[in-house]
Amino acid sequence: MLTAQELRDKYLNFFKKHGHAIISSASLIPENDPSVLFTTAGMHPLVPYLLGQKHAGGKKLANVQKCIRTGDIDEVGDTSHNTFFEMCGNWSLGDYFKKEAISLSYQFLTAKEYLGLDVNKLAFTVFKGDDKVPFDDEAYRAWLDLGISEKRIAKLDRKDNWWELGSLNTPAGPDSEMFYWTGTNPVPEVFNPEDKNWVEIWNDVFMEYKKTEHTYVELEQKNIDTGLGLERVLAVVNGLDDVYRTELLWPLIEIIELASNKSYDNYTREMRIIADHIRASVFIMGDHKGVSPSNTDQGYVLRRLIRRALGLKSRLEIEDNNLLPNLAKKTIEIYKDTYLELSSNQNFILEELKKEEEKFEKTLVVGEKKIEQIKGEIDGATAFNLFQSFGYPVEMTKEIAKEKGIKLSKDFNKEYLVALEKHQELSRTASAGKFKGGLSGDDKETVRLHTAAHLLLAALRQVLGDHVEQKGSNITTERLRFDFSHGEKMTEDQKQEVEQLVNEAIAQDLPVTCREVSLEQARAEKAMGVFASKYGEMVKVYSVGQKENYFSKEICGGPHVERTGELGKFKIKKEESSSAGVRRIKAILE
Ligand code: SER
Repeated sequence: MLTAQELRDKYLNFFKKHGHAIISSASLIPENDPSVLFTTAGMHPLVPYLLGQKHAGGKKLANVQKCIRTGDIDEVGDTSHNTFFEMCGNWSLGDYFKKEAISLSYQFLTAKEYLGLDVNKLAFTVFKGDDKVPFDDEAYRAWLDLGISEKRIAKLDRKDNWWELGSLNTPAGPDSEMFYWTGTNPVPEVFNPEDKNWVEIWNDVFMEYKKTEHTYVELEQKNIDTGLGLERVLAVVNGLDDVYRTELLWPLIEIIELASNKSYDNYTREMRIIADHIRASVFIMGDHKGVSPSNTDQGYVLRRLIRRALGLKSRLEIEDNNLLPNLAKKTIEIYKDTYLELSSNQNFILEELKKEEEKFEKTLVVGEKKIEQIKGEIDGATAFNLFQSFGYPVEMTKEIAKEKGIKLSKDFNKEYLVALEKHQELSRTASAGKFKGGLSGDDKETVRLHTAAHLLLAALRQVLGDHVEQKGSNITTERLRFDFSHGEKMTEDQKQEVEQLVNEAIAQDLPVTCREVSLEQARAEKAMGVFASKYGEMVKVYSVGQKENYFSKEICGGPHVERTGELGKFKIKKEESSSAGVRRIKAILE
C-alpha cells in the first residue's frame, strides 16, 4: 500500500530532484480576490506569477495544495469527486514548456521508483483546436515521442481540454489530461474518454494565453500548471474501488457505519457525502482565516456542507450527537502532521460544529413542515427562501420533495441560482465585475489599498495589542475590507488612533521595500504572516519604513506601492463584527 504521505513525498521529491522549489499550500480562502470564495486549484494563488511577477522560489515550483471545489458538488457521492481534495502541482513560470512538462508527468507516472503505473493502462487527451486557438500539435507530438500510440490520445474540444478561471486578465490555455484504466476487464485498445473506467488523474495546463473580454492574447511568459488529484491517485495506485476506500476517508466511513449500524455497501452515497462534507468543513474552519457558518460567502458554503451532512445523518437514523465531533476529530488526526493548522484550530472547529448542529435541529422541523405544505410543484426561488429563512439546505429540499412526491419546477436550478445571486449581490459590497483587474490585482487602486492593509494591521497591533492577527482581506478598486482577531468592538478613540497612525505613516512617505528570505529568517525577524510550513521555502517580506525602525513587516506576495506617500488619506468607514472573535474594518483611501 502506498500511503498518502508517501505519495506527497514522492511527488515533492521527484520535482525537487528536477530543480523545483517546494512551497507550502496556500490558504483555502483566497487573499484579495472577490471573484472566488475558495482556492480551487494549486495555480490559484500563483496567478500573479503566471502573469509575470517574480516568485521568491524561482521559476520552477511544486507543492501539495488544499483545494475546495463546489462546482462539482452534485457529483459528490460518486467514486471520485470530492468537495475538499489535495492537489499535487508543479509549475514552470516561463521556464520549461510542453515537451518537458509532459515528459516529467510521464516519468513520475511510470518510473518504478515513483508510481510505476503500467503504460498500457494510461491514456491521454489534447486540445483539438477551435476558431479561437489552434490544435495543440506540440502536446500531441510530445506524447507520440514518448512512444504513446495514437489510439490512446484523444483530441477533445474546449469543454474538456481548456483551462481558465472566471475572471478576465487571468492566464488560460489548452491542457492535456492523463487517465488511468480502473476497469477489471482488459484495457480497450482505443481510448474512449466517455468510458467511466478511465479515471482522470492528472492535468497539465499550458498557460500560454491571457483571457481578455473577446479573445485570448498570447502571454509573453509561457507557463506550465499541473494538477494531480492526490485522493484519486492514491485509490488507483492501491487498486481501490473509490477514493473513500483510501486511508484518508475510510476511517470516517467506519465511524459512520458504527454510529448508524448500517453498512457502506447499502448506504454508499449517503456515507460518502457525510464523510466528504465534514472533511471539507473541518478544512474550511481549520484554515487560519477562522471562517464559521453563516449566510454569506464562505460561511454560506460551510453551512450548506454541515447541514447537508446533518440531513443525511438523520436519514441514516443516527441519533448520536457525537457523530460530527467524532468525524472532525478523526479528520484532524489523519491530517495533523501534514496540515498543522488543523490541530491548532481544533477547539474552534468543534465548537462551531456543535453550535451549527444545535441551530439546525431547530430549523429542521420548521423546514420540513413548510415543504409538506407546498401544493403542486416547488420552484428554485422557494427552495432558496427555505434556506434563507429556515436554513433548510436545497439538497434536502430536493430529497424530501422526491420522497413526498412533490415535483421540482422545470428551471429549478436556474431559479435557485438567480435567487442566490440576487442575495449575494446585496450582501457583498463588491461584485466581481467591479474588480476589473481580476486576480492580477495590479490595478493602481488595488495596489494602494493593499499597502494600506499592511499599515492598518501594524496600526491595529499598536493600538489594540499583539493578539491582533489578520484573518482575511478583500480588496476592490473602491475599498479595503480587512478581518482581524479581536474580541470587542473598537471604541471611537481606538478607531481614530488607528487612522491617525496610518495617516502619519503615509505623511512620512516611508519607503516600501521587498526582500526574499527563508521562512525561518522571516519568523526570526518577527514578520507578520503565516508560518505553518514544513518546507523552509523562500518568501517575500515587505517592509514599510527604515530598516531598524520599520512601521510594518509582513510576508506577502505583493505587489505594493514604492512609497507610502502615494496612498493619499486613509479613512475607516465601518468597524463591525465579522464572526466570533473576529472584527471587520471597511476602509478607503481618499
Ligand atoms: N489548474 C489545473 C487544474 O486544476 C491544473 O493544476 O486541473
